Amino acid sequence: MPKNHLNNENPTYKKLNDLYSIQMAKGQLYETIITTKNINGFEKYQGHLKESDDLKTDDKSTNTNGPVNAAPIGVLCKNSKQIVLYLYEGTHTVNNIHNQDYFIVNITQNPIIFTKSTLEDLSDEYFEYYHEIPFLKDADAFFVCHVIKIKEITKQNDLGSSKMSIVTANVEEVVKMKSQAIPLNRGVYAVIESLIHYTRFELADEETKTSYWARIKEMDRLVKKVGSPQEKAALSRIIKEIEENFKDLD
Ligand SMILES: Cc1cc2nc3c(=O)[nH]c(=O)nc-3n(C[C@H](O)[C@H](O)[C@H](O)COP(=O)(O)O)c2cc1C
Repeated sequence: MPKNHLNNENPTYKKLNDLYSIQMAKGQLYETIITTKNINGFEKYQGHLKESDDLKTDDKSTNTNGPVNAAPIGVLCKNSKQIVLYLYEGTHTVNNIHNQDYFIVNITQNPIIFTKSTLEDLSDEYFEYYHEIPFLKDADAFFVCHVIKIKEITKQNDLGSSKMSIVTANVEEVVKMKSQAIPLNRGVYAVIESLIHYTRFELADEETKTSYWARIKEMDRLVKKVGSPQEKAALSRIIKEIEENFKDLD
């Protein structure tokens, strides 16, 4: 990790041992905000990279504490000290990670930060630096990741075929900044949404029942992808209950 010569290590930060100490679990996918330093020579243009006219190089040596980038990204917890990212081509994040050894994963549940970092660039006042790597001042916790492997693949999906980078990174430091730091997992929300649809089933006409059923099956698909064993069990139970009590929904 770069030496922390900025010397801005806040004494109130609490350093923790590993990902399990911020309630991440092996095999689970969490929605986070990844912060990286931007590579010189590129500008954000409607969500795609565009080579800047006046910069002919993306020489890393000139890229010290330049503009920074934040984007919502799913983080798979491989084990207590390792994560995996699945990054689509054409984002600042993937480009920056291809060009730098370190990035930071920020833990937050703040909906405004998720929205702003998706729809626009966050302004400088959102960031601070830890060992020269940008992080979100307002995060509940963050961890510093060291890239150890990048594998490029082409994946078939709903959008046709997409190039992706599978990034494996070791977690070097975990820092908790607020007393409560819970990584965001979509599984529990899928269970709650499904339960709300379930409780309205009795009252719904046939058309509405069919639409609730489609939504619950979508939540089941989501939970199978990102949920915990408990969330998967909860969705299976909801589906079984509906299948037993309501016929001809498909
Ligand atoms: C909750 C959430 C999770 C996301 N996860 C990923 C992901 O795992 N991989 C990815 O490539 N894009 C993911 N995205 C999309 C990127 O955040 C989006 O493309 C963003 O504009 C990239 O910004 P950047 O160009 O500043 O890196 C996600 C978006 C959201 C809202």
